[in-house]
Amino acid sequence: MMMKRHFFRMQTALLSGLLLFVLSVSAHAQRGTDFALLDQHGRFHQLSRYGESEAVVLFVQRNGDALSRQALPILVDLQERYRERGVVVLLLNPDPTQDRASVIAELQQQGVELPVLLDTAQVVARSLQVSTTAEAFILDPASHDILYRGALDSRIGVAGGGEAQPWLEMALRPLVERGAPEFDAEPPQVAGTPIDYLYQQRFGDRQISYQDEIVPILKRRCTTCHVEDGLAPWAMTNYRMIQGWSPMMREVLVTRRMPPGQIDMQLGEWDNIHHISDEELITLVHWIDSGARRQGDEDPLAVQEGVDDSWQLGEPDLIIEVPEEKIPATGMVDFRIRQADLDLSQDQWVRAVAYNVGDRSVLHSLLVFAVDPGLTEKEPEALVDPQHAEFISLYVPPRTEEEFAPDSGFLLRKDRDLSFKLRYVTGGRETVDRTRIGLYFRDSAPEYAVRNVIALNPDFTIAPGEVDHVEHAQTPAFERDVLVESFAPQTHTRGKSMTISAQFPDGREQRLINVANYNFNWQMNYRLRQRIPLPAGSRLVSETVYDNSASNPQNVDPEAEVKVGITTYDEIFSHFIRVLEPLP
Ligand code: HEC
Repeated sequence: MMMKRHFFRMQTALLSGLLLFVLSVSAHAQRGTDFALLDQHGRFHQLSRYGESEAVVLFVQRNGDALSRQALPILVDLQERYRERGVVVLLLNPDPTQDRASVIAELQQQGVELPVLLDTAQVVARSLQVSTTAEAFILDPASHDILYRGALDSRIGVAGGGEAQPWLEMALRPLVERGAPEFDAEPPQVAGTPIDYLYQQRFGDRQISYQDEIVPILKRRCTTCHVEDGLAPWAMTNYRMIQGWSPMMREVLVTRRMPPGQIDMQLGEWDNIHHISDEELITLVHWIDSGARRQGDEDPLAVQEGVDDSWQLGEPDLIIEVPEEKIPATGMVDFRIRQADLDLSQDQWVRAVAYNVGDRSVLHSLLVFAVDPGLTEKEPEALVDPQHAEFISLYVPPRTEEEFAPDSGFLLRKDRDLSFKLRYVTGGRETVDRTRIGLYFRDSAPEYAVRNVIALNPDFTIAPGEVDHVEHAQTPAFERDVLVESFAPQTHTRGKSMTISAQFPDGREQRLINVANYNFNWQMNYRLRQRIPLPAGSRLVSETVYDNSASNPQNVDPEAEVKVGITTYDEIFSHFIRVLEPLP
């Protein structure tokens, strides 16, 4: 029998002052990384977003695993007893063959409810060097450090077992209770079910090819934005750049920051959205972890087409100049609301909108509205008033054109002008943006009219520091049958997540989109691959969660009480949903 060096040293509250326990816990701490995953209900969890908590407990679970099952009631109990003390308990399932439905069924069968993070690409398990199920961790959400790794309890997968020792809790207590007995022990190893790492089977010791495997992924998922003079802060122009940025690339991949605007892909099928598959993610992360090396000198990244500045859809029928905008070198630029006269001689059916961006390095997004003349000069807030303003289209890089479906068009009335809501970032040098918008008209009326309805919540208040502030809104009921085509949800910097569902006349609800990790920087238009029919009397309902804490990296002011308004410091809840309405 192996001699156990483990011991648990009790000290009096007097001796174990703050300094002592910090020293002894950090003696075990290992550097970890931030990460993000969706749970079995499609909710987004990012370690650093728990920054308002003292500690995150993570337990490695698999469906059907005897140790995982034994642990569940212990974990639920732990969560209940430590919630008030700022501890969050999460499970991590690193088995790509176990899907959300099977995890929900497993937990239901065991009669517990805890978030299970689905690590289908196994990059989080790999980052934490998980080797078996039933391994337990205490993570510091602020530093990402691993403060504890080992057994949850001496009953869960510890050889010899012995008397019941709540190992993880013994380490947790001093972290959350000032003056609690210090923890200074080597926790026992866990012998659970070994984790099969797919990348090991797939790649073995083979070196992944930079030329043939990495570059094609980067071209598919990244380089459209990471170009010279683009909005992204660095251009993927050659191997040296990729190698130099590779640690940062790993971080933005594992926290799901890049590619930007990713949504829950389990729901709906989407066109034109930013996404990265598990396969691509595993390949990139494994390549980075193995040293981001290449063989030979060939560099397919170095031969890249520059940005094409011509009108992609041909010469527009009408070109509108967005009022030019002087952008300073540094600092934050608030939204600019601008208007341009149209002077149409007759109503027109718009079939496409194209953007000729003046300075791509500063223009982050641009919303185009058809409005009553003079409206936004007097009253910029009126942009969300469907009586006087109608959303038409949205520019988010890198896509510079938006074509409506061939059987549809947007009716631009001759008594309308255009208004723009522009968001700029500063890029280190002063510049002037001169962006132009091209409109393309149809020769005849389409089958369907494009209508952009809005799920609007015009009035709410978020308390300073509030982490999960939930708001709801709905569209009016549709008077006729419509087809839902796309979603452009909009909040400002506190937006955290949102869902939009269809509510049918019989009261039944069906979720259509889950923007689980909303990022203020990336207000996308998510377009369905296939339109969804809604009968007359249906409406669209949205739940939106706001995070006004300091752990929200976009938050402009966590100290502020936030109200609805048009500046970056205010909040909005205005989700534009494009529907097609058959014309008589
Ligand atoms: C839609 C455009 C777009 C795509 C696609 C995109 N990026 Fe980015 N990337 C940006 C922008 C813009 C920034 C600056 C930060 C921001 O605005 O969110 C950025 C920042 C970064 C950073 C720096 C982060 C920092 O904090 O400095 C890295 C690294 C990065 N991207 C990697 C990637 C990788 C890897 C991919 C592909 C898997 C990718 N990006 C795809 C636009 C994009």
